[in-house]
Amino acid sequence: MKRVLFALLIILAVTKANGDPGDFRPPAVPLIVFSPHISVWSFSDNLTDSDTVHWSGSPLDFHGLIDIDNTQVYRFLGTLPSNVPRLIQKKVVVQPWRTIYTFSTPDNTVELVLAFSQPTAIEDPYTYITFNVRALDGKAHNVRLYFDEGPMLGLNDKNEKVFWSRTDDNVTVLTMNAYNQIPFSIRGDATRNNWGYAHLIGPNKTVTNGYQGFGDNLRQAFVNHQAMPSDDTRKPRPAHDQSPSSAFIINLDQVTSQTISSYLIFLFDDVYSMLYFEEWQPPCWRTELNNDPKQLIQEAISYYESNMADITDSNELLITLLTNIGGSQYSLLGSLVTRQITGALTRTWSDKQNRSALYMKEISSDGDVSTVDVIYPSSPYFLWLHPEMLRDVLIPVLAYANNETDIHYNLAWAPHHLGTWSVCDILPDEQEQMPMEESANMLLMLAGIVQKLNKADFLQPYWDVMEVWAQYLNSTLPDPGNQLCTDDFEGPSPHNCNLALKGILGLGAYAILLNSTGQAQRATTYMNQAQDHANYWLKAARDDQNYRLQYDLPNTWSQKYNLIFQSILSLNLFPTDTAKLESNYYASKMLDFGIPLDSRSKLTKADWTSWVASFSDDLKEKDVIFGKLYKFANESPDRMPLSDWYDASNGHVLGFRARPVMGGIFIRALLESPLVDNIYIKSKQSSKRHGRVNKCTTS
Ligand SMILES: *[C@@H]1O[C@H](CO)[C@@H](O)[C@H](O)[C@H]1NC(C)=O
Ligand SMILES: *[C@@H]1O[C@H](CO)[C@@H](O)[C@H](O)[C@H]1NC(C)=O
Ligand SMILES: *[C@@H]1O[C@H](CO)[C@@H](O)[C@H](O)[C@H]1NC(C)=O
Ligand SMILES: *[C@@H]1O[C@H](CO)[C@@H](O)[C@H](O)[C@H]1NC(C)=O
Ligand SMILES: *[C@@H]1O[C@H](CO)[C@@H](O)[C@H](O)[C@H]1NC(C)=O
Ligand SMILES: *[C@@H]1O[C@H](CO)[C@@H](O)[C@H](O)[C@H]1NC(C)=O
Ligand SMILES: *[C@@H]1O[C@H](CO)[C@@H](O)[C@H](O)[C@H]1NC(C)=O
Repeated sequence: MKRVLFALLIILAVTKANGDPGDFRPPAVPLIVFSPHISVWSFSDNLTDSDTVHWSGSPLDFHGLIDIDNTQVYRFLGTLPSNVPRLIQKKVVVQPWRTIYTFSTPDNTVELVLAFSQPTAIEDPYTYITFNVRALDGKAHNVRLYFDEGPMLGLNDKNEKVFWSRTDDNVTVLTMNAYNQIPFSIRGDATRNNWGYAHLIGPNKTVTNGYQGFGDNLRQAFVNHQAMPSDDTRKPRPAHDQSPSSAFIINLDQVTSQTISSYLIFLFDDVYSMLYFEEWQPPCWRTELNNDPKQLIQEAISYYESNMADITDSNELLITLLTNIGGSQYSLLGSLVTRQITGALTRTWSDKQNRSALYMKEISSDGDVSTVDVIYPSSPYFLWLHPEMLRDVLIPVLAYANNETDIHYNLAWAPHHLGTWSVCDILPDEQEQMPMEESANMLLMLAGIVQKLNKADFLQPYWDVMEVWAQYLNSTLPDPGNQLCTDDFEGPSPHNCNLALKGILGLGAYAILLNSTGQAQRATTYMNQAQDHANYWLKAARDDQNYRLQYDLPNTWSQKYNLIFQSILSLNLFPTDTAKLESNYYASKMLDFGIPLDSRSKLTKADWTSWVASFSDDLKEKDVIFGKLYKFANESPDRMPLSDWYDASNGHVLGFRARPVMGGIFIRALLESPLVDNIYIKSKQSSKRHGRVNKCTTS
């Protein structure tokens, strides 16, 4: 019976799999998302239904207005002024590095296509905002655009004082910033850095004019066709006090059926991005560009055409690859989460280490820096598209464990995280201890990187710490006893089989690492040791039709998502029918919106579910599971950047949002499609084209 039902589900999923990207309803739409701090989203179907917000939901408002023939003004972005009618939104399409809205006037005379485009090189902290306008009725129309940015981009709290200024050389740069610049004076999860400089840039002075001051007055003047006020000089002042804004008016003049294109740039210079154990680290681009934001601004303008072409090519390449691998729904999911993943990262420069570093923010479950069990679920994205990036995220963790900071790391297992964004300073005994979880995560990811890059030289300083972790795993296996694993929101789960599985594969990963440097004999010893533990596991975890949640609990089950690393690393510790047995069992537990995480409740994790989808060789079974994840993204009533923790029976979010863990869905691509054309290699070429001294995109 169950198999028949399953077959039916497959047919339904397959017939629905060919959706138009415009039919997809993202739970929230990424607009300007390039760091945990600058992460601007629309939580609504229409861009005019609500004001734009930070991933956390706190206000980061932008507004857009369009004036047709000096008679009628419409809104296209934001809710203000509320008495101004809105353009009709025809569709929104979210691509990996670009979001595109299409609007028309209610009488269908003029069309506006608004796009937010993100350079693929993650060290570029800016977004292009492009306006393409044309007449739909064969006539000529006079068109003016208005676009503004509210005061909160460089602040954390609306009571903080904002300052504004402008430069008008050959381009206009409107700057807003916290009046008190005290880097690292605030840290946390939903809190935002209250230092740095937000620049709104109008590259073409022939057609753009910039204004600053009380936002309501700027918008009202535009709506009423009055002279723009320029008398607001009461600064600095609290952001909530006559909310200051930076605004551009773009005069497109006569627009006909031929599209006229214009653009602005939003750029954020955080000056200092990370305080890594007493070292103040600037954003990496500052090291490449003589510490001069003017050079970055100039580069963003000079390379507009080539950056846009690179973004278009990268989008097309990724969308095509994902569609070929998993169909259009899979491709839409991958497109939705790409900036969610990269927007959790910050690339810095360390003078002390003489290298660039990447840090990942956990986001929403915690403000932790570089949580190892958050990097781990995100890792398929990087292992597939850019293993060097994963290496650069892990090196600061390895360095901390290796006593390269001012803190003595004295634990026999891998760290959980480094600090609270954006300050790394945590003491070993302040960690949330997940000994087997994090030690195995590190070894598994490092082995994946070494296999992909086919070199292990970067591990040279870290053999001692890795040996300590491998020893820890071996001494604790095959039964991890009572320790926390990453799914700690479920409460404790002693004798956890999925955790033991990870530990066993982690030992196998250590054998791979040893072997990669020619230590064949030690590799064999560890691999045999892992095999012994695996043999124990296969007996002790076995229930009638599946493997258990805990060794000691019959009639239980759980997603054994860690098993997928056996396929990633080509290990042979568990027989191939282990995954098949499990995936058949999960299929019998399928609910409306997916497979629960385990027998304890209906809650599920989108990242882990996408991992177990790859247990089956049957492409249709994978499509069914990804079809459920798509249904969750498309139909969940809870509007926020994609969550990874929800109720599999009704699609309600249980917690967590915007987390980089959604990089996990790229596991299907990683396993099915060896990378044919590295998107990030293309962006490396574009940064060479920019003529910089290359220090950030390491290889
Ligand atoms: C979005 O806009 C369209 C057309 O402007 C309208 O039909 C629809 O009701 C709007 N959606 C919401 C949720 O307001
Ligand atoms: C602006 O001026 C700088 C220096 O004079 C020049 O290098 C640059 O090309 C100019 N930019 C534009 C967009 O004209
Ligand atoms: C500025 O805009 C005008 C009018 O659209 C256009 O003719 C000109 O080429 C633009 N200049 C630059 C530097 O893009
Ligand atoms: C930093 O690294 C670069 C490239 O590896 C090297 O050429 C340079 O000498 C190093 N600088 C210092 C101060 O060690
Ligand atoms: C780091 O320092 C601690 C405390 O002094 C010590 O126990 C530990 O072995 C050191 N770790 C390494 C890798 O040297
Ligand atoms: C080590 O690598 C060699 C050569 O690829 C391979 O034959 C051997 O099985 C590997 N040993 C282990 C323990 O993985
Ligand atoms: C693993 O632990 C067992 C039991 O303590 C020990 O006998 C064995 O030598 C260890 N294996 C390795 C590779 O260290």
